[in-house]
Amino acid sequence: MASRNKNKRCKSDSESQSEEEEDDVDSSIEKGDKISAESSSNQDMTTTSRHYFGSIEGGVSIGIIENMKEEYGLFVWPSSIILAEYVWQQKSRFLGVNVVELGAGTSLPGLVAAKVGADVTLTDDLNRSEVLDNMRRVCKINDLKCQVLGLTWGLWDAPVFDLYPNIILGADVLYDTSAFDDLFATVTFLLQKRPDSVFITTYHNRSGHHLIEFLMEKWGLKCNKLLDGFSFMPSHKASNLSGNIQLAEIVLDTFQCE
Ligand SMILES: C[S@@+](CC[C@H](N)C(=O)[O-])C[C@H]1O[C@@H](n2cnc3c(N)ncnc32)[C@H](O)[C@@H]1O
Repeated sequence: MASRNKNKRCKSDSESQSEEEEDDVDSSIEKGDKISAESSSNQDMTTTSRHYFGSIEGGVSIGIIENMKEEYGLFVWPSSIILAEYVWQQKSRFLGVNVVELGAGTSLPGLVAAKVGADVTLTDDLNRSEVLDNMRRVCKINDLKCQVLGLTWGLWDAPVFDLYPNIILGADVLYDTSAFDDLFATVTFLLQKRPDSVFITTYHNRSGHHLIEFLMEKWGLKCNKLLDGFSFMPSHKASNLSGNIQLAEIVLDTFQCE
């Protein structure tokens, strides 16, 4: 995961980026929604950032509540901005399908998936009630009906058995190597429930992808597609982000690749 300071910078960039894009977005998006931060909510470091996808004719926007006091889960990480853009650009794949976002935190990719017609379950660590509560709030402010679920990687609680995703999303969930096996265990379990399903993840590539390659082999998975996260980003968004961020589509090794 990128450093906290670095991502504070990215957050500001995301907000100013939103302002630059103002002319490009759907006229139904109210300017007052853009970067909220009521003075009262500022006191507890809560802000709302607004993220835009597409153009005037067919664009959407998503409001995200962030809290700078919290670590990890209440912050829009750059990998999330990149994965959300990918979901938007691949929106035809998401229409009417079942999507689970793992380690969703502020949930931008999952919310874009819901906006383009997916049936979405947003999940995060069972023990992080503040993150799960925030997910419910962002669903509400975006008028989206997603299921919100506590799901800790590598734990086999009852709700995980009810999930049958066609697409699993995960932005910046590969940052703590000690959690990689648990994450891959959960991903593999979900992929096995629907053998044509796919795990789409964005991550900071710090180790030349080798550890992830090793784990994919260990868990019987393979990478179907590997992209530089910046290769598909609109230039005005890419210029506000930095880092070596990759997007991987991971499937069961038995599944025939495209
Ligand atoms: C770096 S944050 C990324 C959040 C969000 N996906 C984004 O990119 O903005 C990592 C997320 O993974 C969640 N997480 C960490 N360990 C987890 C675990 N063992 N099980 C489930 N979620 C976990 C954290 O609570 C946090 O929301």
